[in-house]
Amino acid sequence: MQENRMQEIRSWIIDKERIVSARSAGKIPYRTQDGVFEDMTEKNICWWTNGFYAALMLLLYQTSKEETFLGRAVEIEEKLDRNFMDWEGMDHDSGFKWMLTSAVRYELTGDKAARNRALLAASDLAGRFNPAGNFIRAWNDDTGARAGWAIIDCLMNLPLLYWASEEIHDPRFRTIAMLHADMAMREFIREDGSAHHIMRFDPETGETVGPLGGQGMCEGSSWTRGQAWALYGFALSYRYTKEERYLETAKRVAAYILKELEKRDHMPVDFCQPEEIPWEDSTAAAIMACGFLELESLVTDGETYHEAARDLILKLAEDRLSRSFETDQLLEKCTAAYHDEEHDFTIIYGDYYFTLAVLELCGEKPICT
Ligand code: GLY
Repeated sequence: MQENRMQEIRSWIIDKERIVSARSAGKIPYRTQDGVFEDMTEKNICWWTNGFYAALMLLLYQTSKEETFLGRAVEIEEKLDRNFMDWEGMDHDSGFKWMLTSAVRYELTGDKAARNRALLAASDLAGRFNPAGNFIRAWNDDTGARAGWAIIDCLMNLPLLYWASEEIHDPRFRTIAMLHADMAMREFIREDGSAHHIMRFDPETGETVGPLGGQGMCEGSSWTRGQAWALYGFALSYRYTKEERYLETAKRVAAYILKELEKRDHMPVDFCQPEEIPWEDSTAAAIMACGFLELESLVTDGETYHEAARDLILKLAEDRLSRSFETDQLLEKCTAAYHDEEHDFTIIYGDYYFTLAVLELCGEKPICT
């Protein structure tokens, strides 16, 4: 019954995206305004989410074998070359931009230009590593104000480094990724299994300065997308390294999230937000589902994780999808950050992770990270 439902959702996504990808040709989608994708090509070619629509197209190409999806992915990947020439826009998010697009396309097609992009991106990402403190620096600035900042999201960029090490048989990338993952385990994961968003270090001595609230409600609260990045990120580090400590950490984060999920129907922006604040973040639910499925694939007794992923996705499918083929988005009620003026809109990475989870729940294992 639920397997049929998952197959129905898969078919619905393919049918809708056949139309949406043609209608949005030439665009790099981010949010929608009145159901129409914003185009980031001129607005901000370096924006961290610019790879996600191409990544979604690569998922759909893998599941449907329809070449038009691949063509749309290549179109966006090529546009992102302009990002390489903009230092300010080359940051910790290179994995989101080039692992999910170029590295995946190289794995699927053997395209040498795609491989070149992925290796350039990995080299730049590795260059952000600060050996004092063992962290990969997050955002850029010219003043050094954020030279000591690391963020939990960055765990999701480590697969690009693991991939590069395997691809060119050079352990440097993997060593950096593991030093960062070890730092994140130590500095970001709290006693109860929840995660900080931002941690500050002295960039010269490496000494820990302390956490910041970041995109969640406040310091010490529990930004849901950050918890999702932690769950999925540690599971991925275990997949690539087989170091038990990453698996144990992913399980601790999973246990924390499972407890929180019992308390509510829809995904808040922050697990600590007051009940009267209605803001949601469906992207966090979709990413958590992917994290649970990754964890399930790495253990022998992963039924609880499978059920959690399935329930999250069925809940989103029930009342958080934009069903009309006239709108460009799949998921609704997404939020970028708790203190932003706007909440409950649509964000492209929600569509990507929702689709990935649906495909995996249909028993597929697309190449993606
Ligand atoms: N990586 C930034 C975010 O999750 O919003």
